[in-house]
Amino acid sequence: MELQLITKRLTLRPLSINDVGLAIEMFTDEQVMKYAGGTVAKEKIIEEMEMWTHRGGNGCIGVWCICDRTTGESFGSTALTPLPIDKDDTDWEQVVEDQLPDGEMEIGYFLKRTAWGNGYATEAVERILRFAFEDSPLEEVVAVIDPKNESSRRVLEKTGFLSTGIRRAYGEDLPGFQIIRENWLGRQ
Ligand SMILES: CC(C)(COP(=O)(O)OP(=O)(O)OC[C@H]1O[C@@H](n2cnc3c(N)ncnc32)[C@H](O)[C@@H]1OP(=O)(O)O)[C@@H](O)C(=O)NCCC(=O)NCCS
Repeated sequence: MELQLITKRLTLRPLSINDVGLAIEMFTDEQVMKYAGGTVAKEKIIEEMEMWTHRGGNGCIGVWCICDRTTGESFGSTALTPLPIDKDDTDWEQVVEDQLPDGEMEIGYFLKRTAWGNGYATEAVERILRFAFEDSPLEEVVAVIDPKNESSRRVLEKTGFLSTGIRRAYGEDLPGFQIIRENWLGRQ
């Protein structure tokens, strides 16, 4: 399966351990993490980086690095990962080589602050949805947001996600969103 995904301005490639600098820049930034559980300590990022590069479902589950298609500069990350319901974080034990995890798959995205406001998140999410519904066996992708995260809500609206109301995820009651294959196909 081809996991390097191209858009007009971006290349999405599987996250690698060498992206640790980007991860530190994003996950220690209070503004980036404001609606995503708060900052993560540098030591913890370094410790967890290898785990974040694991892939499941023959490659289709995992994290991609969002890069400038021309220069290769890394802007952020986007992911398809198992949605935690009662735990407060992704259960990476479910992400194993040739198994599609049980349960719902969520899309997530983070950009370093200097890359905000250019439509990159929308462009990356659109490409991940195309991958999910054309190349992977997924029938639906879900998302949850902090109720105050307006830019994330906009990204979901612009890419065709529909609100499913307040739902349980990350051990909290959060606004939920969903897109199913049929709806995605109808938008193409
Ligand atoms: C969420 C995030 C990825 C969006 O990235 P981005 O590339 O700037 O997003 P886009 O440019 O594709 O779209 C953002 C949209 O939100 C809108 N927006 C931004 N801030 C807003 C606000 N405070 N209120 C309302 N809308 C807002 C923008 O105008 C744009 O919509 P438009 O195209 O209709 O004008 C980025 O802000 C980020 O990394 N945030 C921190 C991490 C995070 O919260 N991730 C989501 C949780 S997993």
